[in-house]
Amino acid sequence: MILVTGGLGFIGAHTATALLEKDYEVLIVDDLSNSTMDVLAGIEKAAQKKPFFEELDLKDSAKASQLFKNYHIDSIIHFAAYKAVGESVEKPLEYYENNTVPLINLLIEIKKSKRDFPFIFSSSCTVYGEANRLPITEDEPIKPAQSPYGNTKQIGEEILVDATKALNNLQAISLRYFNPIGAHPSNEIGELPLGKPQNLVPFITQTAAGLHEQLTVFGDDYPTPDGTCIRDYIHVVDLANAHITALQRLTRHLSTEKYEVFNLGTGAGSSVLEVINTFEKVSSQKLSYTIGPRRSGDVVAAYADTQKAKNVLGWKAEQTLEQAIASAWAWEQKIRS
Ligand SMILES: NC(=O)c1ccc[n+]([C@@H]2O[C@H](COP(=O)([O-])OP(=O)(O)OC[C@H]3O[C@@H](n4cnc5c(N)ncnc54)[C@H](O)[C@@H]3O)[C@@H](O)[C@H]2O)c1
Repeated sequence: MILVTGGLGFIGAHTATALLEKDYEVLIVDDLSNSTMDVLAGIEKAAQKKPFFEELDLKDSAKASQLFKNYHIDSIIHFAAYKAVGESVEKPLEYYENNTVPLINLLIEIKKSKRDFPFIFSSSCTVYGEANRLPITEDEPIKPAQSPYGNTKQIGEEILVDATKALNNLQAISLRYFNPIGAHPSNEIGELPLGKPQNLVPFITQTAAGLHEQLTVFGDDYPTPDGTCIRDYIHVVDLANAHITALQRLTRHLSTEKYEVFNLGTGAGSSVLEVINTFEKVSSQKLSYTIGPRRSGDVVAAYADTQKAKNVLGWKAEQTLEQAIASAWAWEQKIRS
C-alpha cells in the first residue's frame, strides 16, 4: 500500500488518482488544513475507485506511529506541507514545524521498520533561487532561501540526504517541481486555493470567473523579451505521472544512489503575458489586467533542464500549456457554476 500524505491537496489528489487508475492500493492521509472532504469524493469519481483515507495531522508522532501499525505501508509519497510563500514570512514557526515534523515522524517510522522503504519528497524549483544558468539543471547550486517556505524545502532535502545515509532501508527521491497547473481530464478534481491565490493561473481563472476585478501583473520591466517573469508551467497530470515513474524506479531498484533528485518541468519557459494570451485564446475571452510593481522575492526566469528526468528517470511532460490552461479553466467554470 502506498501512503500519500497530503493526498487531498492539489498535487496529492492528482497523484492519488493516477495511482488508483493504475490499480495501486492507496492510503491518503490529510489533516484538511488546506483541503476539504469534497476532494476525496472527487478522487473516487475521477479514478472510479476508492482509496483508504485517514484524517490525521502528521505532526502528531503518536498518531503517525499508529498509522503504521494499522496499515501495511510499503512506500510513501510525502506531499503534506504548507506552501504559501507570503504566509511563511508571517508565520515562520508554523511553516518550519509543519514542513519538517511530519517528514521526521515518517522517517522515524521507517527507521523502526525492518522493511525497505521507497520515499518520494515534494521539493521545488524554489531551491535554485535566481539560477546562474538557464535552463536549470539539477547540478545548479542551491541558493540561500528567499522565504521560510523555500528554506523548509531545502531543509527537507537535507534531512533526506542524511537519513538515506544513516538508514539502510530508506531510498529517497526528491522531485523539484516547477509550476504545476491544470486539472484532471474528468474535471472531478483540480486546484482549490483557499483564500486569495498566490499563483498566476488560478488568479487568471478566478478573475475570468468574476471573483476578482482584475489581475495585477507584478512588473513588466524585467530583463526578458516582454518584460514579465518567465516560469515553466507543467500540467498537474504529467506531474502526477512522474511520481509513479519515480516510485517504480525505487521499487524496481533502478536508482544508482540512495538519494536522487529530479527536476519536473516541461523545459519551456512562458512569460506572464504569454500565459495571459494563452488563456485568452483557449477561453475566447479578454482578461482584465493591469501592470503593477514588481513583487519582492520573484526571480526573473526559471525553467527546467529536463534531460535528467528524460534520460535517467524515463519521464517527460506530454501536455501543452494550452491543454493545461484549458483544463484549469474548465475546472474553474465547474466549481463556480
Ligand atoms: N503547488 C505548487 O506550486 C508546488 C510547487 C513546488 C512544490 N510544491 C510542494 O508540493 C506539495 C503539495 O503541494 P500542493 O500544491 O498539492 O499543496 P496543497 O496545500 O494543495 O496540498 C497539501 C495537503 O497537505 C495537507 N497537509 C498539510 N499539513 C499537513 C499535516 N501536518 N498533516 C496532514 N496533512 C497535511 C493539506 O491539508 C493539503 O491537503 C507541498 O509539499 C508543496 O510544498 C508545490
